[in-house]
Amino acid sequence: MKPHPELHYSRPAIALHWIMAVLLTVLIAMGLFMVGLPKRTPAVGFYYNMHKSLGLVALALVVIRMAWRLHRAAPALETASPGSRIAARATHVMMYLLMLWVPACGFLATSFGKHPVSFFGYALPRLFAENAMLLALFRQLHMLFAWALLSLIAVHLLGVIWHVRLEGSRFIRRMLPA
Ligand code: HEM
Ligand code: HEM
Repeated sequence: MKPHPELHYSRPAIALHWIMAVLLTVLIAMGLFMVGLPKRTPAVGFYYNMHKSLGLVALALVVIRMAWRLHRAAPALETASPGSRIAARATHVMMYLLMLWVPACGFLATSFGKHPVSFFGYALPRLFAENAMLLALFRQLHMLFAWALLSLIAVHLLGVIWHVRLEGSRFIRRMLPA
């Protein structure tokens, strides 16, 4: 991993952070909204397909983001206490894992279901035979991990507010282009 001597995250890391922040917010809101829609209506088909397609985009982006993060370290957080540094890093690692597990479980759940995984209208080849038990398992995990991710995003935002109170807006600038 290359050392990162600057005060800011690299441009690709910043772009991926903000694109994914918007995408994940849309996906969580869409997921919670669509499961409450009346079944077998055109709206359900539209939202489920859109959710799966955007979810697969999020899966691809997080893989790229994790690869980039392993290649390029985060800028040092010299001003923070060791305790808050550990808490921030632990939250970040868990968010990365959940950003991977949530769409992976959504994909696996759909792969064991009746309907093919469709990507903006293109049905992807079926990877597994239909399996009601695995469908139920991965659906539960998808929901559980999505709630865990949402909780960690809340913790992350509280952490950001806390740092901004201590250091001012220059903390946010770590995640903004120089
Ligand atoms: C869905 C919403 C969000 C997610 C999933 C998310 C995720 C993350 C992750 C994983 C990191 C660690 C980056 C790394 O070290 O590679 C990070 C850093 C950061 N995020 Fe977010 N973020 C979200 C929303 C926000 C928002 C709304 C703000 C600002 C108000 C924000 C401000 C920051 C800042 C300033 C850092 C740098 C922290 C540091 O230097 O240690 N994030 N975010
Ligand atoms: C980071 C990406 C994703 C996020 C944040 C996300 C979030 C959510 C949320 C919050 C729900 C509602 C859970 C509930 O209350 O039951 C949901 C449902 C669902 N998601 Fe995702 N999702 C993502 C990716 C995917 C992907 C890639 C697929 C499939 C290819 C998928 C398929 C589904 C399906 C089929 C449901 C409905 C489950 C049911 O009917 O019980 N999701 N998602």
